Amino acid sequence: RHVKVGIVGAGPAGLLLSHLLHLAGISSIVIEARSRAHIEGRIRAGVLEQGTVDVLRETGVGTRMDAEGLLHHGTILKFAGEARRIDFQDLVGKSVMVYGQHEVVKDLVAARLAAGGEIVFEVADTRIEGIEGSEPKIHYTHEGRARTIACDFVAGCDGFHGISRAAIPADVLRVYERVYPFGWLGILARTPPASEELIYARHDRGFALLSMRSPEISRLYLQCPPDEDVALWPDERIWEELQVRLAGGEGWRLEEGEIVQKGVTAMRSFVAEPMRHGRLFLAGDAAHIVPPTGAKGMNLAVGDVQVLARALEIYYASGRERALEAYSDTCLRRIWAVQRFSWWMTQMLHTFDDASAFDRRRQLAELDYVTTSRAAMTTLAENYVGLPLDRGP
Ligand code: FAD
Ligand code: DHB
Repeated sequence: RHVKVGIVGAGPAGLLLSHLLHLAGISSIVIEARSRAHIEGRIRAGVLEQGTVDVLRETGVGTRMDAEGLLHHGTILKFAGEARRIDFQDLVGKSVMVYGQHEVVKDLVAARLAAGGEIVFEVADTRIEGIEGSEPKIHYTHEGRARTIACDFVAGCDGFHGISRAAIPADVLRVYERVYPFGWLGILARTPPASEELIYARHDRGFALLSMRSPEISRLYLQCPPDEDVALWPDERIWEELQVRLAGGEGWRLEEGEIVQKGVTAMRSFVAEPMRHGRLFLAGDAAHIVPPTGAKGMNLAVGDVQVLARALEIYYASGRERALEAYSDTCLRRIWAVQRFSWWMTQMLHTFDDASAFDRRRQLAELDYVTTSRAAMTTLAENYVGLPLDRGP
C-alpha cells in the first residue's frame, strides 16, 4: 500500500506531524515499536513553550491541556540560599504551560484515532529503504507478519535510539556531541508541589529541580552520577537530599509523599546534520538531544514537525520543493540556538567535579547577574518561553 508520508515513531514528533498533515489533507501512517499503553504512560518532559501551547490549541488538541495544564508566568532560580524570580510575563509577555508529555501524547493519539488516522503499535524490525529514489519504503513486522508501506516521503520521528538516522549514509551525516559528567534522578511523588512555580536550584551538593504535574503531584529531579543505579536511592535518601538542595534554610520544607516513579536520565547535547537525505526527513530526538535543564526536548520536536508539515503542504499544493529543501537549514538554525541555551542553563546550574574555586565563584556571579540585570533576565525569559519558529536568535 501507498501513503504520502510514512512516519516512524509515535512520540510527540510523529503524532503531531500526522495530525498536522491530516488537517492539510495529506495522508500518513504512523508505525510505533511500543504499545499504546506504554507511550501513554511514559513519564518524560513537562514544560510546553508558548508556541507549543499555541499549535496544540489552534489545531484542536488543546482542550484538556487548557483544563488541566498549569499556566506559569515565571520561574524561580535558587542559589547561595536565595530565591530569585524571573517574571516571563513582565519581561517578554509570554508564559509556559506545565502539562506532561504523556498527556500530550494521549491527546494526539485520541485525535488521530477519532479522525480515522492509522497508528500501528508494537511493530518490529523497522527498516527504511530507497530514500535516494522517488518511492521510499518502510518495512516492518506486525503480529508476526512482514509488511511494507510505500510512500512519497519518510519522516524519521523515532527518537534518539531509533533506526532512521542510521539510514543516512555515514559520509553524509555530521554529528556534534557533548556528554555531561552527570545525569538526573527524576521522581514523581504524590504530594502537592511546595512552590507554585518551578524552582531551579544550584547547590554545592548538586543541582535540584522542583516541578509538578498537578496540584497533587510533584515532579522532582536531583543531579547525580550519569550511570547512577536507582537502587542507591531509597526514598528517604531522595527526600533528604531534596530538602537540603531545594529547601535548605528557607523556612519551608518540602512536604514528603509517596514516590510513585523513579528513573535516571543521562545528559547529552547532540546534533546530526543534515536533517534531510533524499526523501527521508529526521525530526525531534532522532536528529538532536538537549540536556533537560532548559525544558526544550519536546518543544524542539514540536518545532521541527511544524516546519516539516508546512513544507510538505507547500509541496503538495504547488509541486514546489524549495521549502522541503530548506527544511534542514531552517530547523538547524533554531536547534543550535536552543542547544546553546540548554548548554548555558546546564553549565550555570550544575556542579562539576573538576570545577576550581574560581569556576564556582564565577557561576554564582553569573546567577547573580542573570537574576538582577533586566537585560540578562530577558535573555533567559525569551529563550525559556521559546524562540520564534521561523528564525534563530
Ligand atoms: P520520542 O518521544 O522518543 O518518540 C520516538 C518514538 O519512536 C518512541 O515512541 C519509540 O518507541 C519509537 N521508536 C523507536 N524506534 C522505533 C522503530 N525502530 N520503529 C518504530 N518506532 C520506533 N525533555 C525535557 O525537556 N525534560 C525532561 O524532563 C525530559 N525527560 C526525559 C526523560 C527520558 C527518559 C527521555 C528519554 C527523554 C526526556 N526528555 C525530556 C526529552 C523529551 O522527552 C524528548 O525530547 C521528546 O520525547 C522527543 O520527542 P520525539 O517524538 O522526537 O521522540
Ligand atoms: C520538567 C523537566 C525539565 O527538564 C525542566 O527543565 C522543567 C520541568 C518536568 O518534567 O516537569
